[in-house]
Amino acid sequence: MSPEQFGAAVLTWYDQHGRKDLPWQQGITPYRVWVSEIMLQQTQVSTVLGYFERFMAALPSVQALAAAPTDEVLHLWTGLGYYTRAGNLQKTAQLVVAEHGGQFPTSVEQLTALPGIGRSTAGAIASLSMGLRAPILDGNVKRVLARYAAQEGYPGEPKVAAQLWALAEQLTPPARVNHYTQAMMDLGATLCTRSKPSCLLCPLQTGCQAQMLGLQTRYPIPKPRKQLPQKTTLMPLLANRDGAILLYRRPPSGLWGGLWSLPELQSGDELNALALQQGLSLGQQQSMATLKHSFSHFQLTIEPRLIHVEHSLSAVAEGDWLWYNLATPPRLGLAAPVKKLLKRAAEQLSAGQLHTGEPS
Ligand code: ADE
Repeated sequence: MSPEQFGAAVLTWYDQHGRKDLPWQQGITPYRVWVSEIMLQQTQVSTVLGYFERFMAALPSVQALAAAPTDEVLHLWTGLGYYTRAGNLQKTAQLVVAEHGGQFPTSVEQLTALPGIGRSTAGAIASLSMGLRAPILDGNVKRVLARYAAQEGYPGEPKVAAQLWALAEQLTPPARVNHYTQAMMDLGATLCTRSKPSCLLCPLQTGCQAQMLGLQTRYPIPKPRKQLPQKTTLMPLLANRDGAILLYRRPPSGLWGGLWSLPELQSGDELNALALQQGLSLGQQQSMATLKHSFSHFQLTIEPRLIHVEHSLSAVAEGDWLWYNLATPPRLGLAAPVKKLLKRAAEQLSAGQLHTGEPS
């Protein structure tokens, strides 16, 4: 789709489906549009409706807002949340009165110099109330454009944001920019929704890269998750001559609570101590591929080692210890990575890599 086709498709959709009856779309002035945009920044349309009408009835002009007691402004805001918005609102009203003769400035640059007005809010005020060709990129529009362009990268990154802004700029049509802006917001809010977009009803479906790839919900790319803290543990798979592996039961609460696990050791010394405690004499050792396991708050790197037990003083383990026979596995709760490791150990043992050629 060319930018011209894009704009035309969005405007045709607006004529048929766009919202035209919202209170801030009646008697449009920069003041009314500005107040509505600030209210809508972190709050849903349905909530804003009542607040907007009450606010306008009490403070119908930028002069009235500038001169109102702060308590009155906060009273009108009570329940909307994010109260810095209300403070910035009054500061901006006072600046507009004191420095701009009570008229909102008519460039995006001057608008963004006012408290609480970012680039997208400035674009919305300029386009919706002044008909200026200024792009917007609020959360809804970001989603529409990120999908349309199958934009890689997290939009919170400056480089990615710059690419989306450039696209928004390029696609904003020269005429009917007020309708275009409203339509883009409405598309994002009603069709191009986060989890179940209605692509079949979308005027942009023929040009939308994400829809062509069938990857609508991949975009916008979410914030990369912080790397979790890393921990490492040595897990010995102590295999006796019966083909059984020594397990122990985790304490009832905490990680893997009550499940059976392999011993978790920090060093070879701890391995020797364990052997001593369990009355084992250790033989040949064989490392296995490391295994990563993610918990909600850290990532565990497991270094498993298959270890041949030559003799054990007692054939039965006691208390929270048990010899888990790989050929006739008992029905127990196993921690997921432990289950995986036991399977690997069974394969390795049956391939005859341990206990071969030795009398039993
Ligand atoms: N969200 C932000 N601005 C809006 C507007 N003008 N109409 C509907 N929802 C919005």
